Amino acid sequence: MKIHRRGMLAGSVALLHGAMARAQTPASIASGQLWPDDRGLHINAHGGGVLHHQGRYWWYGEHKVAGDAGNRAQVGVHVYSSADLMHWRDEGICLSVSHQPGDDLEAGCILERPKVLFDPQSKRFVMWFHLELKGQGYASARAGVAVAEQPQGPFTYLRSARVNPGVWPINATPEDCQAGTKLARDFSGGQMCRDMTLFVDDDGRAYHIYASEDNQTLQIAELAPDLTRHSGRYARILPGLANEAPALFKHDGRYFLIASGTTGWAPNPARLYVADNLFGPWQAHGNPVRGTPEQMATTFGGQSTFILPIKTANGTQRLIFMADIWQPKNAIDGRYIWLPIDWEDGLPVLRWTKGWTP
Ligand code: DGJ
Repeated sequence: MKIHRRGMLAGSVALLHGAMARAQTPASIASGQLWPDDRGLHINAHGGGVLHHQGRYWWYGEHKVAGDAGNRAQVGVHVYSSADLMHWRDEGICLSVSHQPGDDLEAGCILERPKVLFDPQSKRFVMWFHLELKGQGYASARAGVAVAEQPQGPFTYLRSARVNPGVWPINATPEDCQAGTKLARDFSGGQMCRDMTLFVDDDGRAYHIYASEDNQTLQIAELAPDLTRHSGRYARILPGLANEAPALFKHDGRYFLIASGTTGWAPNPARLYVADNLFGPWQAHGNPVRGTPEQMATTFGGQSTFILPIKTANGTQRLIFMADIWQPKNAIDGRYIWLPIDWEDGLPVLRWTKGWTP
């Protein structure tokens, strides 16, 4: 079944979604609303990220189906493209699950938070994602990799594994390495990888940031030059603070990380961290949300997934905070929050912004 472009499966899922999903393409970004693509169907790219490539934006995310089944991967990774970040063309399923029993990507596995980078050397697109093997809940905690020749795919699955087996992080203390720690427990098999994102620094080096050590500690691992492997250099950051949903950006030479707490699909207050060095130390700066107590307690009902830097006409950088409003009982109905990042006393803040234009 080839569902790479304008997938028929995507179409039938849209029908499941019903007439509710058919609407006009918006002329502004309206967080929390249905967001129709070029066919009038609610965009289906959850836990996603955006790649800017040759003047076009490519939005990759988890394709969800209706009901509880949508919390597992039944179809694959969906990609959309856009010139203006408001009008999105459905480019189909770019990484498909397998229907072969026992395959790593067997339908029913958990495939979350896909992010894609372009490798200027090989001219390939490299996707990383969080993978849980079918039937094992969240115990596998693997990082998956796939590559494609074009941004719309099809992506070919390469492998999945835990991260950096047999390597200690550059900032591990002697106590961290002692038997009994989660880090030491996973030393030989590799570190756990759950919620994740990717980040490319100004010097072109790429990093994989993921919730590890039973979701208690984030790790930042440098990728090798071809982007399909880890280089072996990695650090533990914010140990024991139970952060997930990491989203990272750089502004005026400093690194900013927005993450969430660990409350499953239920929203919780966002957390802001700042560092001068990617490998730390990172400093906590509380909750970046400005608004009502409820908005602050729930991050507007959402959970971070990505921060997209865009260049304005006058060459300055603007940042878009992307988050998911999960609907675990009917996963396909999940909504998106996209907000422009504001600044207050040198720190990024998030305010609910209704119907805005990038
Ligand atoms: C929160 C994570 O951020 C999501 O990606 C997903 O893994 C859910 N937990 C599952 O409960």
